[in-house]
Amino acid sequence: MKVLVTGGTGYIGSHTVVELLKSGHEVIVFDNLYNSKIETLDKIKEITGKEVKFYKADMLCPEEMEPIFKENDIDCVIHFAGLKAVGESVQKPLTYYENNIAGTINLVKLMKEYNVKKIIFSSSATVYGDPAFIPITEECPKGVCTNPYGWTKHMLEQILSDLYTADKEWSVVLLRYFNPIGADESGLIGESPNGIPNNLMPYIMQVAIGKLPELGVFGNDYDTPDGTGVRDYIHVTDLAKGHLCAVDKVMSTEGVNIYNLGTGIGYSVLDIVHAFEKANDLTIPYSIKPRRAGDIATCYSDASKALKELGWKAEYDLERMCKDSWRFAKMTLANE
Ligand code: NAD
Ligand code: UFG
Repeated sequence: MKVLVTGGTGYIGSHTVVELLKSGHEVIVFDNLYNSKIETLDKIKEITGKEVKFYKADMLCPEEMEPIFKENDIDCVIHFAGLKAVGESVQKPLTYYENNIAGTINLVKLMKEYNVKKIIFSSSATVYGDPAFIPITEECPKGVCTNPYGWTKHMLEQILSDLYTADKEWSVVLLRYFNPIGADESGLIGESPNGIPNNLMPYIMQVAIGKLPELGVFGNDYDTPDGTGVRDYIHVTDLAKGHLCAVDKVMSTEGVNIYNLGTGIGYSVLDIVHAFEKANDLTIPYSIKPRRAGDIATCYSDASKALKELGWKAEYDLERMCKDSWRFAKMTLANE
């Protein structure tokens, strides 16, 4: 297949490009490089031995995206491009709504114009809000989001579903990711956020390489086994492989299909700290801090629908996630 990957130099996008190339797909990437680096393309080539066709384009500028559709006979789009910093979205709501929503509308308008009506969209477990039940199935009602970033996912799911309601030629796959961590086993690509990280594993990696002194654990009084927040951490390579299955699905059906991509296992913040220490034989200093606004106690998936309908299941365990994160941190983050 000829697959257009938006946001393909980003964290999840780059890992997905690697898996697409490894399985023989032809890949076209566009990104505005706001939160990623052009060098990622060289790393992808080093890992796979294959080239991707790259366009520097911004979703907010249709004239930058149009040549991609003009010059390539695209079969389907995997749409990762977007802003994703939860805290920043509270400070800059208009930037988030404009980039993620207006940008996606620009994208799907062009898709429609060029008769490319198959899209896989990066959604998030955040759409469940404080989930009505655990483990979370796709039947769990969507909840109240606590930040504009979450609302953009909530709204974009609706917008893409409405496309199909209006025109039955569309095929839409909404993938609700849980918490991606880890890195490609090469150590060449991984997550490298700008500034002080907000997410747990990137923060732990900064502490491990000595760039930050200690981890703050946000609350130890939740109703969980050790009092710290519980999440469903999934290896980014497993997540990337889920997109390969989603490509088969989106190409073979019409309609709107929704899947949770998680492992189905919940780990607490302290489980992650201790697993990272054990897997890599080091110590992560931490102290308990107040709860972070907007956090929920527990969030983990029931991912059985993806197994049944996509034939996909996460394979890598927590030890592997911690080892691969650390290899990337040592090889790449430490030199940045
Ligand atoms: P990322 O920031 O590493 O990648 C997103 C890419 O999109 C970046 O390379 C960025 O430069 C690009 N981009 C942003 N705005 C753009 C625009 N207007 N035009 C062109 N490119 C633009 O993020 P990621 O972690 O790889 O996430 C990928 C997708 O998955 C995002 O939509 C994110 O919201 C979603 N998601 C991520 C997580 C997570 O924990 N990482 C969880 C759930 C969902
Ligand atoms: N945490 C800490 N200290 C930190 C960072 C995080 O204790 O420095 C805790 C949080 O309180 C939470 C857990 O670690 O209990 C995970 O927090 P993350 O920020 O890594 O992830 P979230 O579950 O809050 O959110 C992430 C993404 C969202 C996405 C969601 C999907 O940031 O975009 O996963 O489940 F929607």
